[in-house]
Amino acid sequence: MTETTVETVKVLSKTTWTDTLFSFTVSRPDCCRFTAGQFVRLGVNPSKLKHYRYINDSQANGDQPVDNKPVDEEIFRAYSIVSSPYDEVLEFFSIVIPDGAFTSQLQYLQVGDELLLKTTAFGFLTLARYQQPAPKDLWLLATGTGVAPFLSMLQDPATWESYQHIILAYSARTFSELAYVDKIQSLAEDFGSLADNPAKFTFVPIVTRETEDDVKSIDNSLFLKEFSKLPKALNKRIPELLKTGELQARVGESLDISSTHAMLCGNPQMVEDTKETLKSLGLVMNRRGEGNIAVENYW
Ligand SMILES: Cc1cc2nc3c(=O)[nH]c(=O)nc-3n(C[C@H](O)[C@H](O)[C@H](O)COP(=O)(O)OP(=O)(O)OC[C@H]3O[C@@H](n4cnc5c(N)ncnc54)[C@H](O)[C@@H]3O)c2cc1C
Ligand SMILES: NC(=O)c1ccc[n+]([C@@H]2O[C@H](COP(=O)([O-])OP(=O)(O)OC[C@H]3O[C@@H](n4cnc5c(N)ncnc54)[C@H](OP(=O)(O)O)[C@@H]3O)[C@@H](O)[C@H]2O)c1
Repeated sequence: MTETTVETVKVLSKTTWTDTLFSFTVSRPDCCRFTAGQFVRLGVNPSKLKHYRYINDSQANGDQPVDNKPVDEEIFRAYSIVSSPYDEVLEFFSIVIPDGAFTSQLQYLQVGDELLLKTTAFGFLTLARYQQPAPKDLWLLATGTGVAPFLSMLQDPATWESYQHIILAYSARTFSELAYVDKIQSLAEDFGSLADNPAKFTFVPIVTRETEDDVKSIDNSLFLKEFSKLPKALNKRIPELLKTGELQARVGESLDISSTHAMLCGNPQMVEDTKETLKSLGLVMNRRGEGNIAVENYW
């Protein structure tokens, strides 16, 4: 198989989280091998979808489309894999950018649709990159869809075996944009039990643009149904939570050059600001296997 192998994959399921966030699974070609944390290139030809965005879509203005034709070209984008390397299917978690060439089409995805997949996986946001310090505390810091590679790592028993404490801090604007919270909360039970001496797991949800009281005042029954079992969400950005020590206090762990592995993924400004904060707290970038901080920017 070469780097340019492109396979057609079938959409098997779709989960809609909000108007701008959804997940989907596709069939996994035998040749698609990856390490938890890596990404692949997914492609769509809108003209092959059951539903698509028209070339001159003016529906946003409430009008009928001017040109009733689909885009007939292949559009590829990088996507982190959510599912574990051992799953039979591939799962992805996607944003919808209303004017984005890829996701403005992908938002109409339906079960049975076909997508394209470049089967070679890429990326160094993997646990194998850490040689020194030896694994002890793993801090996974994500915004938005940047939680995807961490979900894959957390579904790999090797992760649970390698660390003493795993921390997932996951920041979204609103409670409803915190996807996968049920799954995250059952991870320790589901995957920790597969390992001898599994890591302790601490999940820290972060919601930056609303409070629990905001949600309760709009729909208390929704809050009780969806979010009441969550650990209490923090409500400041990750770098600020680290600077003030609020995040470390919640987790009951300090950051230490000799024992911390910190992985950052998502919004590039968050990655930059968090990286600088971690450096000011004494951690160093991981280079050639040595050091604490590893990052991946999504745009
Ligand atoms: C290594 C890597 C892995 C990625 N994994 C994922 C993933 O798992 N899920 C995913 O949804 N996207 C992921 N992306 C981003 C993805 O490749 C596309 O940018 C995204 O699907 C939007 O495509 P688009 O053509 O609609 O808009 P684009 O023209 O690609 O992007 C337009 C703008 O949308 C914003 N944007 C793009 N992606 C995101 C995002 N994920 N969250 C919030 N804002 C965004 C940025 O402001 C960007 O400038 C990844 C990117 C990289 C480099
Ligand atoms: N509700 C909406 O309007 C909405 C919803 C989804 C997507 N979108 C579109 O999608 C794009 C991104 O949406 P998104 O919500 O997935 O991603 P996002 O803007 O990156 O926000 C996700 C989380 O990252 C935090 N964040 C942003 N910049 C940060 C920084 N420098 N340091 C630390 N944390 C930071 C946000 O906090 P803050 O809240 O403090 O920024 C939020 O908690 C936007 O371009 C938007 O147009 C909009």
